[in-house]
Amino acid sequence: MARTKFVAGNWKMNTTRSAAVDLAKGVAAAAPSGVQVGIAPPFVYLDAVGQAIAGSNILLGAQDVYFEKPGAFTGEVAVEQLIDVGVKFVLTGHSERRHVIGEASDLISKKAHAVYTAGLILIHCVGEKLEERDANKTFDVVKLQLDELMPGVITDASRLVIAYEPVWAIGTGRTATDDQAQEVHAFIRKQLGERWSTAFASQVRIQYGGSMKPDNAKGLMSKPDVDGGLIGGAALKAESFLGICNAAR
Ligand code: PGA
Repeated sequence: MARTKFVAGNWKMNTTRSAAVDLAKGVAAAAPSGVQVGIAPPFVYLDAVGQAIAGSNILLGAQDVYFEKPGAFTGEVAVEQLIDVGVKFVLTGHSERRHVIGEASDLISKKAHAVYTAGLILIHCVGEKLEERDANKTFDVVKLQLDELMPGVITDASRLVIAYEPVWAIGTGRTATDDQAQEVHAFIRKQLGERWSTAFASQVRIQYGGSMKPDNAKGLMSKPDVDGGLIGGAALKAESFLGICNAAR
């Protein structure tokens, strides 16, 4: 069965309440069919954005989560609370959380399994830094980041999405070439096949992320193992985000 392409916007720590609602409405008004489209606004605007896209096919997403059940965890947000405001997918392992905020692998792993076991779609981000690519360590790094996921826990391929985001391409305007992306995506799918099964691996969507724009999206997404995109900067304007969604058709 062909994999439905999935384009998700990661708004990061951007927008105001009114800008978030306007952007969400703009996306919902013109999102193409045949492509899964999602948006992940900042936590504080999840509720407002959820209401703005109510009745559309756009999936509401969260950029982060805490793995514990609701309780005494000052400043954190539980997966139950995300579900309560309509969240359908959650990002884990984003490079900014790994390398800027300093999240370690074991924390990322706990978050990923909390998202999955709660019944949500997990978008687990992996990707190498520039020095790691230059040292030919891309596959080793990605492998270790895939180790954060436990095949015994994650059993439904339709709720697992891997986002390959080379750190050197995020927010830099420097995109991986179509072939560089495909090479790593194929490696990821092979790894998933060895860890789960080839049947499972063939159903997992693997998104590319890192300076994807309307003009490079088509080339990247025409590669056999590139099943969509995780979009940062270009997701902050309805026009450019929709341009990428349309390129995925
Ligand atoms: P970018 O961000 O599109 O701005 O490079 C992608 C991401 O961090 O998910």
